[in-house]
This record gives sequence, structure tokens and C-alpha cells, in this order.
Amino acid sequence: MWKEILPKLYRNPLGLLQRAIYKGLIAPFKYAQGHDYQAQRYWQDRFLKYGPTLQAVGDEGLSESENAQEYAQAYNTLIQLCWQEQIDLAQSQVLEIGCGSGFYTQLFHDQGVKDYVGIDITNVLFSSLQTKFPTYHFIQQDVTTQLIKVEPQFDLVIMIDVIEHIVTPEKLTLALQNLQRCLKPAGVLMLCPIMPKHQKRLFYLHFWTLEDIKMAFSENYLFRPLVSFRQHHLLVIKNSYHRQPG
Ligand SMILES: C[S@@+](CC[C@H](N)C(=O)[O-])C[C@H]1O[C@@H](n2cnc3c(N)ncnc32)[C@H](O)[C@@H]1O
Repeated sequence: MWKEILPKLYRNPLGLLQRAIYKGLIAPFKYAQGHDYQAQRYWQDRFLKYGPTLQAVGDEGLSESENAQEYAQAYNTLIQLCWQEQIDLAQSQVLEIGCGSGFYTQLFHDQGVKDYVGIDITNVLFSSLQTKFPTYHFIQQDVTTQLIKVEPQFDLVIMIDVIEHIVTPEKLTLALQNLQRCLKPAGVLMLCPIMPKHQKRLFYLHFWTLEDIKMAFSENYLFRPLVSFRQHHLLVIKNSYHRQPG
């Protein structure tokens, strides 16, 4: 934790203090609801404040160019993982949960993905995304409370930097079961961040471990070794379920 905080403290102590007061005192008053929070309202307000930037979805304590550096590494890692899993992106149906300001939408577009669906709890950025990616589909939905209603199933489902914003175990389980229904046999799911320690950090931030995630999956899923991704770890899960012939 200090590794993340110290550089920000050194660079802009006042900014760090202001964010700590906002996130620790003011925002919980506005958005917290018992052990949970009003996620749609929180993300809507955050996107209205920052617009389609990386600060909106990345680290608010970093500048746009610092966020861009971190995202650039993530971009390369994600493409490499798709190669390793032998996913032919140009022929794949891709579902992204929590598409935010569209950083990974752009990646998939660059890689020739034709069939893409982006889901997000807020539609604040959908009109700019739809203008940029006119053939892609964007759906407003809370994946912790509503069944994902998209047909057919997908070759690749990604959910990057979203699970830490699901703050109750019940909702995490529902969201993960929801994703599994969307995966084709042999489909691949990529999730992050996976943390070493289960920990509630802020009203909208809860860290989950590999064990927390595994609990929502049956033995039909293969878990790959964790991969370094942004400041944490990403998990690749493969659906190994094959229907028996006949
Ligand atoms: C930290 S941002 C990450 C955005 C994007 N995946 C990225 O890495 O740039 C989290 C995103 O998840 C969305 N989100 C949060 N909770 C959600 C939920 N329950 N259902 C769908 N989307 C959700 C937010 O609106 C936001 O776009």
C-alpha cells in the first residue's frame, strides 16, 4: 500500500489529503449503503466529473499521462495473453464487463474484433463510445443484480478492474456466475485484480483473493497461474466443459 501512496504524497501532498478526506468521509456519506454502496450513482458521477479519460477509470491520484503509461503495459500484456490462449481475436466474440471509457474497446478494435459487446453499470460514456465504435454494442447493466441477456455466448469475456468495486461476497458470486453463463465451451475469462489478501479498503473498494474467486466456479474451469497486470495480478480462467456427443 505504501508503495502506491508514497510517490503521491511526495508529489502532491495536498491533493492526496483532499482525496483522502473525500473518499474517507464525504463520499461514503453520499454513496455508502450499509455494507454496500450505490454503484450506479457513484460511477455516473465519476464519469460526469472526468469524462472519457483514463483518470476516470484508472488511478485518480495519477496524471493522465502516468495512467497512460500503466495502461500501455496492460495493453501489451492483454494481447500477449490472447496469443498464449490461442484466441483469434478477429474471429472471436468478445464481451467486456465494465467497459468504462473504452480503453480495452479500443484494443479490441485495433486487433480486428468485429463482434464486441461492452456492458457497464452507467451509460454516461455510451454516446461517445458508440460514435467511436459504431458497429459495437453497449449495454447498461449491473452485472451483480441483473442476468446478462446477451446471445450467443462469447469466446472471450474480460472484466478488468471491476471486481474490486463489487463489495459484498453475495454480489461477487452473482456476478461471477453471471459471467460463466456467457462463456462458450473452451471460452476464456480474464479477471483482475486478484489480491494476496482479502480486504475491505474503502466504501467502494474491496480486495478479493484467488480463493474468493474459485469458490464461484465448478471443476469444469481451469485456472492459469496469475499474471502481473498493472499494479496487481490478473487471472485467466478457461472453460474446459465439453458436451459429450450424442
Ligand atoms: C475502475 S473502472 C475500470 C474500467 C475499465 N475496465 C478499465 O480498466 O479501464 C470500473 C468500471 O466498472 C463499471 N462497473 C462497476 N460496477 C459495475 C457493475 N456492478 N456492473 C457493471 N459495471 C460495473 C464502472 O462503471 C466502471 O466503468
